[in-house]
Amino acid sequence: MRIDIITVVPDILKSPFEASILQRAIKKGLVEIHLHNLRDYTTDNYKTVDDYQFGGGAGMVMMIEPIDKCISELKSEREYQEVIYMTPDGERLQQKMANRLSLHENIIILCGHYKGVDQRVRDQFVTKEISIGDYVLSGGELGAALLCDAVIRLIPGVLGNETSALTDSFQDDLLAPPVYTRPAEYKGWEVPKVLTSGNFPKIEAWREEQALERTRKLRPDLLKDE
Ligand code: ADE
Repeated sequence: MRIDIITVVPDILKSPFEASILQRAIKKGLVEIHLHNLRDYTTDNYKTVDDYQFGGGAGMVMMIEPIDKCISELKSEREYQEVIYMTPDGERLQQKMANRLSLHENIIILCGHYKGVDQRVRDQFVTKEISIGDYVLSGGELGAALLCDAVIRLIPGVLGNETSALTDSFQDDLLAPPVYTRPAEYKGWEVPKVLTSGNFPKIEAWREEQALERTRKLRPDLLKDE
């Protein structure tokens, strides 16, 4: 998978890909991340990427021309399945969306800033608008990093069997069950006996029951179709 990220602050997007699972995925060649500084697509000496909004009002708006130049250049080199715009008024990011996006070969992620982008960018180039939650960030970069993490870990080969994404919370509309590791007893606090019983059907049944109970208690909205 190849992900092209268009941003005015590429520095924010460096460290998430320089450690742990995402770094390993890149090193293994399972994903390519390309950061594009929007200022490199400007034509004036000041490298202007934003301007006042027509009609007046506070806040600057990201201009269409540098974005058009960047997206057109990328599209002339390969086909993209989605051009995603990170924005608080987009569709809320959920596991199912991450699952679907992980199947794509090439995607572009455009990070908004200031008051957002000229509406014509959204009308002409953007195929999907994603929000990471009902709050406003200073820009789309942190949302883009988060989206990349959620998507990349689903690419086959990124996680080993021992950390398979299939058992994550939300994969079956349930929260994950509690987990324990050694020691089996610490300061008198014991691990549930069933987990050390060696009886795997029983362990599986316990996990399912716990997942359901946890979901009922913490996220009953996930069970609305039950
Ligand atoms: N940019 C600013 N706020 C955002 C949000 N909540 N989700 C995605 N992109 C954003």
